[in-house]
Amino acid sequence: MPTDAPIHRRATVPYVPFDPFSDEVLADGTEFHRALTAAGPAARVDQSEGFEIVAVGRYETAAAVYDDPAMFLNSRGQGLLDRLEDESFREPSVLVEADPPDHTVARSVIRKVITPRAVRGMRASFVAAAEAAVDRVVEQGSFDAQTELAEAFPLKVIPDLVMGVREEGRENLLRYSTVLFECLGPMTPRARRVMEDAGDIDEVRTWIAESCARENVGPASLGARIWEAADSGAITAAQAANMVRSLLGAGLDTTIHSLARTIYHLATHPEQWRKLRAAPERATLAFDESLRLDPTVRQTYRTPARDTDIGGVPVREGQKIMLISGAVNRDPDHWGPDADRYDLDRRSGSHLALGRGIHQCVGGPIARLEADALLGALARRVESLELDGDPEVLLNNTVRGFTRLPVRVTAA
Ligand code: HEM
Repeated sequence: MPTDAPIHRRATVPYVPFDPFSDEVLADGTEFHRALTAAGPAARVDQSEGFEIVAVGRYETAAAVYDDPAMFLNSRGQGLLDRLEDESFREPSVLVEADPPDHTVARSVIRKVITPRAVRGMRASFVAAAEAAVDRVVEQGSFDAQTELAEAFPLKVIPDLVMGVREEGRENLLRYSTVLFECLGPMTPRARRVMEDAGDIDEVRTWIAESCARENVGPASLGARIWEAADSGAITAAQAANMVRSLLGAGLDTTIHSLARTIYHLATHPEQWRKLRAAPERATLAFDESLRLDPTVRQTYRTPARDTDIGGVPVREGQKIMLISGAVNRDPDHWGPDADRYDLDRRSGSHLALGRGIHQCVGGPIARLEADALLGALARRVESLELDGDPEVLLNNTVRGFTRLPVRVTAA
């Protein structure tokens, strides 16, 4: 797409001639994001599979949508399919695909499971695993930071401490999240190929369902705490299994790609890497600034309960709204003229990469603990960090990331 792509106006709804799910935009959404933010509070976008989507690319508008859960529903589905009309890949989540009052009950249970104390209790294991992972790659000098660091480290700690998932079949975790995140978007030819390559989806679904069952959840995990809530009668067994599934689906890919993208930004911004080296306790700032600049979850979805408008742009009951995090997190009206710059000194905590409002990511503190452990260990043990070749970009309907991130390091 040309940089100066025109913004057409159809009736009162601005139109931005980009398909958010085209291979080009999935590979690099910068021009789409700029055009969307410039177009107005909300705009129609192209969609080759025929979905009529209204997308939001301005920070204040997205915040207002997040803050009005009575009007902008989650229960009609994450993803482009309307839960009222279509069968989806899985049973609706009792968290991210529920509205109050059902959501309020589930959310209060998960908040009592993912407490600051529970997260602090994971710290020593996270730090030990991160240091071991960093020591391994420092010895190698050149390595793939995507698989050997950003993937290897969470795979060591998250399945045990967070999910409580059994050893056998763990390779299904990444297969599941790839398929799940692909299914939220349209089945473009590319997405269809990914689904075919993923093999027998029913086998993955069955493994996931079995892994969420009470008898298969490891005792020293957050999954086990969720089952205790079912034992106390706070939620039903079906809700507990569904909630454990949320940890399995939302807790791994998201953090892997967020860690890898932060490493990428640090490797390509030597002055920011020096800031982190000088103060490794700023690791979570480096992570949050990367999440702001380059959010891992491309978009979240809301569905209007009635005909209404978004910042004056009319939207219909049932129409899918996409809040585009890559655009809102660089909206110059909120972030200033240097919004495209990666800068550890920025106050980036109000970014929308983890959502906002009643559905804001409950796993955020776990993700930040991972970042603190891994990036802190890197900053302490590594002198120089730079790219060692071109990264390979992952194309997926929901997450942004790499499939390969070659880097070179020297020991401190
Ligand atoms: C950096 C990594 C992560 C990113 C970028 C991320 C992103 C998000 C986003 C954008 C939402 C809001 C969805 C919406 O409003 O529609 C969300 C919700 C959620 N996340 Fe995360 N997430 C991350 C890590 C985690 C982890 C580690 C877990 C669990 C172990 C987790 C579990 C959840 C759950 C259960 C919800 C639904 C909350 C609700 O609806 O009340 N996430 N996440």
